[in-house]
Amino acid sequence: MKISRPIVHLILGLLLLLVLVLFRELGPRAGVKKPAPPGAASAPVSKPVENADPLSAKRLVAVGERVIFGGHVPAFEPNLDLPVGRGQCPACHVILEGQRPTRFPKLIGMTARSGERIQEERYKKTALKYAETGEPKTGIRPHARTAGEYLIESIYCPSCYVVEGFGLQETEDTVSPMPVINRPEVGLSDYEMVAIAAYVQAADARGDLSKVTAKQDWENYFGRKLTAGDVMETKAPSVPSPADLSKVGLAEETPEVIIEKMACFACHTIPTVPIAQVGKIGPVLTLKTAAARRIQSPEYQKALKEGKVRATTPKEYVIESILNPDGFIVPGFDNAMPKNFKEKLTYGALDRLADFLLTLDEESARKNEPPPPPSSKARDED
Ligand code: HEC
Ligand code: HEC
Repeated sequence: MKISRPIVHLILGLLLLLVLVLFRELGPRAGVKKPAPPGAASAPVSKPVENADPLSAKRLVAVGERVIFGGHVPAFEPNLDLPVGRGQCPACHVILEGQRPTRFPKLIGMTARSGERIQEERYKKTALKYAETGEPKTGIRPHARTAGEYLIESIYCPSCYVVEGFGLQETEDTVSPMPVINRPEVGLSDYEMVAIAAYVQAADARGDLSKVTAKQDWENYFGRKLTAGDVMETKAPSVPSPADLSKVGLAEETPEVIIEKMACFACHTIPTVPIAQVGKIGPVLTLKTAAARRIQSPEYQKALKEGKVRATTPKEYVIESILNPDGFIVPGFDNAMPKNFKEKLTYGALDRLADFLLTLDEESARKNEPPPPPSSKARDED
């Protein structure tokens, strides 16, 4: 007997649907574990894997997720910002499909792109330039030979290769704004650095752990084995739980917590806030003195006349800078402030944040432990 193909497909389809429905209905109650997280976009890791070998790909990816996002990434609606962990990556990069676009290069597709980068003349030139002295901030001599090694190098030494158009202003794309996160300010361990790379590889391969070569890449790059002795997870000063970002700004949250959750630290150096000592994309926030100065500047007065801004007091200026960053761009900087803080911060949070920022000036900056020199020219650090 010959049954036509469409009918066979239809029957198979209905059967599958029935199985799925039964599974959803009965599965959990019958004690059957769900096979995968349900959400639209999901992260490569779905279950805790605490018992696995700490150097296994699976475990590295899980640790990487924790460092990058501050915890397990829940299924999320498309076009949402993701929580930012100590690695800070999602403040600047799109790592998972569906994440709201950021201003900097996506890390999706990184594996393929890395292979191309190391073939570029620009890469070879920089490698030659730093062959003797090493890159000034990290001392690393660029020498990636594979895509995986390039990824490791990018995280340890952001300025070893700076993607065109993304360097700090006036450095001709020789200095990256990306923080060096294994340096003291953040202080991640080698183990955590490998874990970050493992996570990026897994996310890029949509969870295919056979594509996670980070441990091998690290060993090839640094010429030594990663051993049980390296397995070390550092403690964050005070990482808040990566709660739903729309809830940020709860009454009990301190300005420091808000700065951390909103990732202001990724772009701004903020005196007295330990986590915010590396940001260089925006100005150092010293608004106790700067706010009044900005308002009086000819550039601001011009924007005022054009009706783009309307602050007349320092506090209004700070709140306006956060809620309406397009109105006035601090001279010498890019228009890079996120535009959506008004959707994320409650009025109370904004008020506390503004009051706090208005207590900080250059004096508070000096009282801090010495931050890295703002414009580190190669020669200064030789
Ligand atoms: C403050 C913003 C910022 C943060 C935080 C940040 N990056 Fe970057 N990153 C950049 C910028 C800007 C570039 C492009 C310039 C360059 O090549 O350094 C870049 C480049 C890269 C590259 C090379 C991209 C390419 O196409 O060659 C990789 C890989 C990378 N980042 C990974 C990470 C990872 C992983 C993290 C978290 C541990 C991270 N970044 C955190 C800003 C950031
Ligand atoms: C992606 C990078 C980025 C993030 C994240 C960011 N900013 Fe900014 N911010 C900038 C840049 C660049 C400027 C300067 C250009 C401009 O005026 O828009 C700036 C300007 C400012 C100013 C004006 C400063 C001055 O000296 O006049 C304030 C205030 C400010 N940001 C506060 C914040 C706060 C608070 C947060 C977190 C809630 C934050 N920013 C997050 C990039 C960022």
